[in-house]
Amino acid sequence: MGVGFGGNAVFNRASPSSYDACVARIAADYLSNIRRPPARVLDIGGTDRGFRSRGGLPPRAQVIIANPERGVGADFDYVSSIGPNVEGFDLAMLFGVMMYIERAPLVGLMRDVRQRLRGAGTLLIAEPDPEGVLGKAEVAAKTIYAAVRSLWDPTKFHFHSKGETAEMLREAGFVRITERPDLTPNAMKVTWPPPQPRYFVVAATV
Ligand SMILES: C[S@@+](CC[C@H](N)C(=O)[O-])C[C@H]1O[C@@H](n2cnc3c(N)ncnc32)[C@H](O)[C@@H]1O
Repeated sequence: MGVGFGGNAVFNRASPSSYDACVARIAADYLSNIRRPPARVLDIGGTDRGFRSRGGLPPRAQVIIANPERGVGADFDYVSSIGPNVEGFDLAMLFGVMMYIERAPLVGLMRDVRQRLRGAGTLLIAEPDPEGVLGKAEVAAKTIYAAVRSLWDPTKFHFHSKGETAEMLREAGFVRITERPDLTPNAMKVTWPPPQPRYFVVAATV
């Protein structure tokens, strides 16, 4: 695949998975009341240095990583490579990944994830917000970066807004879609200066 910023702290500074406090809040909200512990988390596009490595996860939590990038400690390349008999997940995360995927395969991925959730499982999405002044600047920067980089390694970014994300989630069969701006490092003031690009966060359940 093309560019994969992996666990690079420079590129992922604004992702909630880069901070213990954000991960602890996510764990409290989505993993503390599950019916069948230990909690099972699917971190799509995650890395060994991200969510899995943070404090604040419940004891014995199992964090499975699906990521095609080499050297990031993934258990599977893609969600589609996870066998049908693998136990379901209480929480699936898609943090900073949608920008690599076109709309149609992205809806397909969301649908696949929905079928792999167990109980009242949640798909939590965090993505650099392409809207607003800073979002537009970020889109321009990534577009230039991709064009230069594509001279030897083709990379295309696909920018999906919060509204488009909600639309895709509904198409994939999710019913309850909730915005969670409080889960970002910016909202939680866990680092200074506030990291850019700002992420939007959306939780989806069936
Ligand atoms: C910007 S990093 C995000 C890392 C981490 N999730 C975080 O929040 O800090 C994007 C990652 O998505 C991965 N990725 C891209 N397309 C993917 C796909 N279809 N399935 C799983 N991972 C993918 C890339 O390999 C890269 O490691």
